[in-house]
Amino acid sequence: MWFDRHDPMEKRWPVRGFRLAAPGRGPIGPLWFGAGLCLALVTGRTHAGDSASGVYSEPQALRGEALYVQHCVACHGTHLEGSPAAALTGPAFRARWEDGTHTLDDLYYIVRTLMPNTAPGSLSKAEYADVVAYILRVNGYPVGAADLVPKGAIMKPVVLQPH
Ligand code: HEC
Repeated sequence: MWFDRHDPMEKRWPVRGFRLAAPGRGPIGPLWFGAGLCLALVTGRTHAGDSASGVYSEPQALRGEALYVQHCVACHGTHLEGSPAAALTGPAFRARWEDGTHTLDDLYYIVRTLMPNTAPGSLSKAEYADVVAYILRVNGYPVGAADLVPKGAIMKPVVLQPH
């Protein structure tokens, strides 16, 4: 089957391979940091270099859990341990997604366009965002005040990385 092929990961999945430029280093570095911090305080979001901190709400993750049980559990397991399909938590997930080159938008894109494997695109965008919120919660990303809105402008700056 297509997913059994031993192609390099980036070829297996249509993940758009962009990487965010780090904020400028050097003498103006602290300025960037300050600006990022202010932005984080104002918007409740972290600046580009940080992991997905507080980008979804608890009610959203709960909705996502119900959707996960309905649409994903058969292939990815009760605890997202991945049986028979890929694990969505643990070492495999960290190695695959938290390598510093993947954003929340990449993860969302894969889920929205390819999952469930047997019925891609069968959920609404908001439902896919809910499921992704649940995946984030299981992976220990902190809960925030507001729902994750499935918009590129919001998800692209969020780099998935160890936290
Ligand atoms: C019919 C089985 C099936 C269902 C249902 C299913 N998936 Fe998958 N999923 C797969 C397969 C097969 C892959 C390809 C990778 C692999 O071999 O597991 C995959 C891959 C993924 C990946 C990428 C994993 C990685 O590390 O590359 C994510 C994320 C994912 N699925 C999320 C979901 C979510 C969320 C749902 C529910 C909305 C879902 N899947 C439903 C079979 C399924």
